[in-house]
Amino acid sequence: MARQEKGAPHCPFAGRTAMMTLQVETAADALVIEDLLDRAFGPDRWLKTSYRYRDEIAPLPSLCFTAVEDGRVLGTVRHWPIALAEGAAQGMTAVLLGPIAVEPSLKATGIGGRLMHLAIQEATRQGVDIIVLVGDPVYYQRFGFRLAAEFGITMPNESAPRVQALPLSPRAQALTHGGVVARAFPLAYPVAA
Ligand SMILES: CC(C)(COP(=O)(O)OP(=O)(O)OC[C@H]1O[C@@H](n2cnc3c(N)ncnc32)[C@H](O)[C@@H]1OP(=O)(O)O)[C@@H](O)C(=O)NCCC(=O)NCCS
Repeated sequence: MARQEKGAPHCPFAGRTAMMTLQVETAADALVIEDLLDRAFGPDRWLKTSYRYRDEIAPLPSLCFTAVEDGRVLGTVRHWPIALAEGAAQGMTAVLLGPIAVEPSLKATGIGGRLMHLAIQEATRQGVDIIVLVGDPVYYQRFGFRLAAEFGITMPNESAPRVQALPLSPRAQALTHGGVVARAFPLAYPVAA
């Protein structure tokens, strides 16, 4: 299913990416995405603490997107369910954005930005209260992300300056003591490094 996303930023490769579509990820994309993630992050990406929030938990199919051109996957963004415990955000619908990656030879051509805008638009439409991610604030603040600590949200064993949050609903925007990010399933519990 192709999606028409709004607000795509200026793209220096406008000619070639004009044919690029953003789509909901399909089962057929799985191996290609794993290969893209290995090349974008390196094979030790599985050691990252953020993966402990994903172990044995399926990503949210309606919030996993690919950027595709001529049948080739050029970018990927996925979301995992998470829980927010021990704070005012308990019970809110929270998701962990990532991994997001773009074909290395096409970095900084706007693909990541288009995936981010679609991800935020769709998470909003699907009723997500708050998006959390671990990444470089310099990149994510342009999409409205702020330090999760500003909403009183902490993520065990992650570097606090890299933990970002984007509240989508009014009740999430009002958070000051959101709570602790925890695994969503089978039980919400903090992650040990
Ligand atoms: C991060 C990533 C998804 C961004 O996608 P992209 O298509 O390359 O980025 P865009 O074209 O949308 O945006 C380019 C801008 O983002 C900046 N940018 C890209 N990655 C950045 C990073 N990690 N930190 C800070 N800024 C970054 C570029 O410098 C550029 O800035 P400018 O607009 O001021 O010139 C992509 O570069 C990538 O796959 N990187 C490797 C994997 C990775 O680090 N993923 C994110 C993990 S948190």
